Amino acid sequence: MDSSRQAQGLLAYLERHGCETALVASRRRILFVHSAARCGPLTNPQTARPLLEDEVSFIEDTIGTAVADSYILRVDTTTGRLQPLDGSALAPAVIAQLNGSPQLRAIGIRVTDAGQMHSTIEGTDELDRELGIDTAGVAFNLNTSGSRPVHYAAMPYEAIDVLLGALAMNHEDVFVDLGCGKGRVLCRAAQWPIRRAIGVECEPALAACCARNLATMRGRRADTQVLCGRIEEVGIDDGTVYLTYGPFPADVLAAALAAIERSLRNRPRCARWIVAGADPTTLASLLEHSSMVKRVEWQQAIVIHLAG
Ligand SMILES: C[S@@+](CC[C@H](N)C(=O)[O-])C[C@H]1O[C@@H](n2cnc3c(N)ncnc32)[C@H](O)[C@@H]1O
Repeated sequence: MDSSRQAQGLLAYLERHGCETALVASRRRILFVHSAARCGPLTNPQTARPLLEDEVSFIEDTIGTAVADSYILRVDTTTGRLQPLDGSALAPAVIAQLNGSPQLRAIGIRVTDAGQMHSTIEGTDELDRELGIDTAGVAFNLNTSGSRPVHYAAMPYEAIDVLLGALAMNHEDVFVDLGCGKGRVLCRAAQWPIRRAIGVECEPALAACCARNLATMRGRRADTQVLCGRIEEVGIDDGTVYLTYGPFPADVLAAALAAIERSLRNRPRCARWIVAGADPTTLASLLEHSSMVKRVEWQQAIVIHLAG
């Protein structure tokens, strides 16, 4: 099977974090992965060839387990520093293990900056604390709502701030996070002077946590609301900026687009749909069939301009 197809999960992961080269590590193995363009294919930069099947399986396993003894790290090729991408807190023993690797030595990378590697697994995040919320943690295969399993991980603050800055929303904007999780992006958006920030979340526990965060957040400048329900079922008729962040399956993305289109038909206006972390091929084929898509651009994520 085509390795770039198999490793879609990692590709989406790298794209979401705006990173081209990553290190996937476990106690068993260390592997560098490079995605030449934002949409692949994935190669092993040390061998300059596409990933082998067993390398792909290793990556898939690492993404699947995500914590405990596996790590995905961004490789900053200019400074030679590594930063965790998957929320792992690296223990000193792991740093020692990584530094002991002949592969890392060969390319001159040393892991020294343990202080920067804050844990988002156990529930502490410096920026969360500043904002007065708790959006920490990653969760795989949640399905308490009886739906098919979903995954939770908040967008990194750095990416959120760059994205919101580029969107330059004003008092007429209604920001809608489709799949808002614990509400990190929502709370950040509500610090902008916009009309309203609305979150949609299908997992009741996450929606409840989001509501708590909206109640405790500091620096609010917009009205907020969280709706517990599925993207496929909820209609948001006054959204001007919609976000989906995560590797949503094709039918959920299709439902998100259909919901936006429905609302543009009900109340004709211009809107933007920000898509981060989705499979670009799936997205492209979806957009092909929409008569409302006017323009697609890249601003830290895929920005789709629609008009009804
Ligand atoms: C990757 S998380 C992103 C959370 C949030 N946007 C953030 O960055 O802080 C994706 C969220 O979408 C939710 N989700 C997945 N499928 C959904 C659906 N069909 N309807 C509503 N929420 C969904 C998941 O439960 C999860 O909380």
